[in-house]
Amino acid sequence: MANKIKKIGILTSGGDGPGMNAAIRSVVRYALHYDLEVAGIMRGYQGILEDDIVPMNHRSVSNIINKGGTILKTARSKEFSTDEGKLKAAEVLRRNTIDALIVVGGDGSYRGASRLYELSGIPTVGLPGTIDNDLIGTDQTIGCSTAINTALESIDKIRDTAQSMERIFVVEVMGNKSGYIAMEVALAAGAEDVIIPERAFDYEAMYDEAREGNAKGKISWIIIVAEGAAKAQVVAENITKAIGLETRYAVLGHVQRGGTPSGQDRILSTRLGAAAVDLLLNGIYGKAVGVLQDKINVIDLKDATRRAHEDMDRRYQLLKILT
Ligand code: F6P
Repeated sequence: MANKIKKIGILTSGGDGPGMNAAIRSVVRYALHYDLEVAGIMRGYQGILEDDIVPMNHRSVSNIINKGGTILKTARSKEFSTDEGKLKAAEVLRRNTIDALIVVGGDGSYRGASRLYELSGIPTVGLPGTIDNDLIGTDQTIGCSTAINTALESIDKIRDTAQSMERIFVVEVMGNKSGYIAMEVALAAGAEDVIIPERAFDYEAMYDEAREGNAKGKISWIIIVAEGAAKAQVVAENITKAIGLETRYAVLGHVQRGGTPSGQDRILSTRLGAAAVDLLLNGIYGKAVGVLQDKINVIDLKDATRRAHEDMDRRYQLLKILT
C-alpha cells in the first residue's frame, strides 16, 4: 500500500452515541496492526485547539467495546467552526506530527472535517456517529440501534401502566430535526400514533380517533413524539382539553444517548473504524464511510449531508393500519 501517513488522530464530536467507543477501539487497534501511530484527541475539535492530545496504544482501548459514551469525550466547538479556527487546528495537528484525522460525529462534524481538509490539505475521514440516523451514505449511524432499544425498554414499561390505569400516554423521544427514532420506536412499540418533524400532523383526526376508540372501550393509548416536532407535555394537555380523557406524558431525554451499545452498533462501529483506516492507508481522503446493504460504502464528506428518510409517510400508514 502506498502510504504517506504515519500518525492518525481520532476524535469524537457533537452528541455522543453508544458504539463510539467500539469505533475508537477499532481505529486504534487496526491502525496499530499496520504500524501506524494513533493519537486520541479529547473533546472533539476543541481538543485540537487546546492541544489536548494523548497517545493511544493497544491497552488504551481495552474493555471499552461494551461501554456507552466516548472515552475521548465530545463537544461542539464554536472556535473551530470558523476558518481561522480550522487553520489554527491544522497548525496544532502538524505540530503534533498528526498526518490525518478520523472524525466520529454527525453532519456538523462532517462539515468541519470536510472544510478542514479543503483548507489545510490534512486528510480527513468521517464515521457516522449520531443516534439520529440522519446521514446520507449509510443505512445506520452509530448509536441509533441502541437508542431505539433503550427508548423501547421504557415505552414497554409505560405501556404496562397505561393499560392498567387506562390512560393515554404521550412519550417524547430524541430527534430535533429527525423523526427517525420516533417512527422506529412507534412501529416497534405498537404505538397508536407518532408525531415527527418530517410530516404535518392532524391533531383533530387523532382526537376523533381517541374519542371513537374510547367509546368502543379502547382507553389506553401510546403516542410517540419526536422532540423537534412537539413537546409531550403540551400534546398531553391539549388531548385532555380536547377530549377530556386523562393523559400523562414522559420525556425520555438523554437516557437514549447512554448505556451498553447493542450488538448491531458494536459491529457497525468495528467495521467502520477499520474501513476508515483502510481509506487513509490507500491515500483516499475527504471521505465519509458508511454501510449500505451490508457493504462498506464510501462517499465524499461534502455529499454526506443530512438525510431525509423518504418513506416516513409509508411507515406512518403502516403504523395506522396495524394499530
Ligand atoms: O444529535 C443527537 C441528539 O441527541 C439529538 O437527537 C438531540 O436533539 C440533540 O442531540 C441534543 O443535544 P444536546 O445533548 O446538546 O442537548
